[in-house]
Amino acid sequence: MKIFIDTANVKEIKEAASLGLIDGVTTNPTLMAKEGREMKQVLKEICDLVSGPVNAEVISTQTEEMVKEAHELVKIAKNIVIKLPLIKDGLKAVRILTAEGIKTNVTLCFSAAQALLTAKAGATYISPFIGRLDDISQEGMDLISDIKKIYANYGFKTQIIVASVRNPMHVVNAALLGADIATIPYPVIEQLIKHPLTEIGLNRFLDDYKKAFQGNNAK
Ligand code: G3P
Repeated sequence: MKIFIDTANVKEIKEAASLGLIDGVTTNPTLMAKEGREMKQVLKEICDLVSGPVNAEVISTQTEEMVKEAHELVKIAKNIVIKLPLIKDGLKAVRILTAEGIKTNVTLCFSAAQALLTAKAGATYISPFIGRLDDISQEGMDLISDIKKIYANYGFKTQIIVASVRNPMHVVNAALLGADIATIPYPVIEQLIKHPLTEIGLNRFLDDYKKAFQGNNAK
């Protein structure tokens, strides 16, 4: 499973990239707003750091405007992917951009029916929002499993990006279900690395070593 980082924070991307774990980046208008910087400049800096897909979301909600925005965004770098909302105009824009060879990611997916239509429109990626479904007491992972099955039934090439990831179990379950990608916020990437038994075990190893070789009796 590929790992994308879900952030527009360049410092976080730099840190995660230094771990060699980052296959791509997803941003959205909320994440951009958090940075409080000019969006194209931020995207340029991100594209300089990451060679994989860098997802930039359009703000317009009308097909024609979305396509215009997309044309501007793809000028930033060749690894830009255009993120569009899962609305009628968004699906129309996907069809146009796909025909032009521009990669798309359809976001804010909350149902298998929406994911089916997205694949039929020819999108490169679909982003089902797992955490937000969990928030309303619906099992988010069931959606991933349904989309996987539907895409396999018909051989759709659209890749599933598990999004709205909130904790390590979301990542593990995404991998168990065979999702193509999980896009993960930086704090969750850190949580994935840590395990209390690793820390306890390491401290014991180092203490034992110190006692044996660096204590009073050490030669
Ligand atoms: O990738 C989508 C993500 O940014 C949304 O996450 O936690 O706001 O539901 P969240």
